[in-house]
Amino acid sequence: MTAVLESPSLWRRERLAQIRAGLTLGFVPTMGALHEGHLSLVRRSRAENDRTLVSIFVNPTQFDDPADLAQYPRTLQHDLTLLEGEGAEFVLVPDQTQLYEDAFRYRVTESELSRVMEGAHRPGHFDGVLTVVLKLLQIASAERAYFGEKDWQQLSLVRGMAAAFFLPTAVIGCATVREPDGLALSSRNRRLRPSDRRKAPQFYRALSTSPTPEGAARALCAAGFTVDYVEDRDGRRLGAVRLGGVRLIDNVPLGDRP
Ligand code: PAF
Repeated sequence: MTAVLESPSLWRRERLAQIRAGLTLGFVPTMGALHEGHLSLVRRSRAENDRTLVSIFVNPTQFDDPADLAQYPRTLQHDLTLLEGEGAEFVLVPDQTQLYEDAFRYRVTESELSRVMEGAHRPGHFDGVLTVVLKLLQIASAERAYFGEKDWQQLSLVRGMAAAFFLPTAVIGCATVREPDGLALSSRNRRLRPSDRRKAPQFYRALSTSPTPEGAARALCAAGFTVDYVEDRDGRRLGAVRLGGVRLIDNVPLGDRP
């Protein structure tokens, strides 16, 4: 049975009992609308820890666009059924007032990596992500926390924050899960029109096969994508595109080029 906890204080009481019993914890923070990518994180956590906690919280401070926040899919009952099926022991579903008792007065800011690529196109996004992740990691008190590599820049920033603030939780990156045609799984994919869904795998193909980031951007523009950026950085090629109002991000290791 998956236990659903609505308040951080209830969870902390549960976690203290686990710690006294010597049980390790893996933590998977999410914004819900769960898909196979999230479930792969839950499976990894279950394999590496005695207990697994998943949080579901649509974090308002990481949305720079109110329309994007309003449209973000909320599928709590379905999410809980999926988590039950995976055997996740605990789900934390806090509300906004509990997580932001400080009324947004405190925030974590990073001043370099958070300003480029996603950060340049979504001002304040990573402040919101880092702030909520710090809160959630403190509440969870886990040995390990699991993040998908699809959000590579997010993963790098969370790793950097954990090191900068000496957080005791190990940050574990997990491989991107893809559709058979290469499209990275994302909660946003369900908003693609059928014709855009058919086109979307070209994004992954262009990132993986173009000799240069400029070449990938040109190919994507020619195919009808609006390209926010394609950049090579730290051994990876990262990009963001828009298709019919839906924004997709992805990244691949540069070593993968044919
Ligand atoms: O990757 C996400 O779903 C979110 O950015 C996270 C890490 C749950 C923080 O809200």
